[in-house]
Amino acid sequence: MKLALLGGLSARQFLRRYWQKRPLLVRGALPGFRGVASRAQLAALAGRPDVESRLVRRRGGRWHVVHGPLECTGLARNATLLVSGVNLHRAAADALLRRFHFLPQARLDDVMVSWAGTGGGVGPHVDSYDVFLVQGAGRRVWRLQRPRAWRMVEGAPLRLIADFAPDEEFLVEPGDVLYVPPGWGHDGVALEECQTCSVGLRAPLGEELAAAFLDFLHERGLPRARYRDPGLRPARHSAQIPAAMFAHAAGVLARIRWTRRDVGEFLGRYLTTPKPHVVFFPPRRPLPRAAFARRLRRAPVALDRRSLMLYRGAQVYLNGEALVARPALRALADRRSARLPSSLAETAYGWYLSGYLHLE
Ligand code: SIN
Ligand code: CO
Repeated sequence: MKLALLGGLSARQFLRRYWQKRPLLVRGALPGFRGVASRAQLAALAGRPDVESRLVRRRGGRWHVVHGPLECTGLARNATLLVSGVNLHRAAADALLRRFHFLPQARLDDVMVSWAGTGGGVGPHVDSYDVFLVQGAGRRVWRLQRPRAWRMVEGAPLRLIADFAPDEEFLVEPGDVLYVPPGWGHDGVALEECQTCSVGLRAPLGEELAAAFLDFLHERGLPRARYRDPGLRPARHSAQIPAAMFAHAAGVLARIRWTRRDVGEFLGRYLTTPKPHVVFFPPRRPLPRAAFARRLRRAPVALDRRSLMLYRGAQVYLNGEALVARPALRALADRRSARLPSSLAETAYGWYLSGYLHLE
């Protein structure tokens, strides 16, 4: 199926030709698109302590960064306000993220929105993940350079490329989408006040996965065997670590085991655990259990936009919880809205009370 978002390419063609290989500019990918939040809404988000935001400003050759919460009434020349995770707060940003449904949800991260004054930008930099730069109101020039061994600016508050020498330049207008693969240098400068929505992908580092997996093993239970040494002899060199103590440690660590099933469960929980600042809002006046069950028979449920729901094999994961996958739960995870059978009413009621899903 050809997708207008991809300039008439099918998802398969885009993935084969461009994905993690080369940039793609799609002119008019989203006709009429002007952004996902007004200036006032972005400024209000930037003022909240539970929202990650930054104000970046270039003065001459120097960059200044202030981290949120920010009080932001207007934008100076050469300044950019960046707000992360806008999809958690604004339905339009969530809808933009969901347009990328041809990618696995496990790969989608968030929608970051930048609002730049004339000349604003974050400087030439490189990201370690793929990004779709969706241009809202206003025009911007993007300069791109293929991956190489970059020399970075030392001591800068942003990860800036010192020897940026772009080999491509694009002037983007509202509704254009520029796909930038990981490792490509890019620099966007606002020609006038403008909004850019970065649909960012998620690519966990092996080291992050491993550290989180060790925490998972810890929570699940590690060997408790305490060291004992009833046959201890007087110490001749009192600072020396006893050989028996080393053997004990090596033996305990060698007993830590895991299966592919543990890895599956860990990954499902890890990928669906909401970011630390995410807050769910329970319904203000919740329906009683029986009324909820009656409504469930007639109406589909929809996942809250903050909910993360994935599945693998016989397990489904919702916001870090694991349970047995049923076809209706897989459908809910894929489409984010589904009819649930009454056998799931009890489970669904718990999620409804937690604010994880809503009745449509
Ligand atoms: C921006 O919107 O100014 C920066 C987005 C990016 O480079 O990822
Ligand atoms: Co970037």
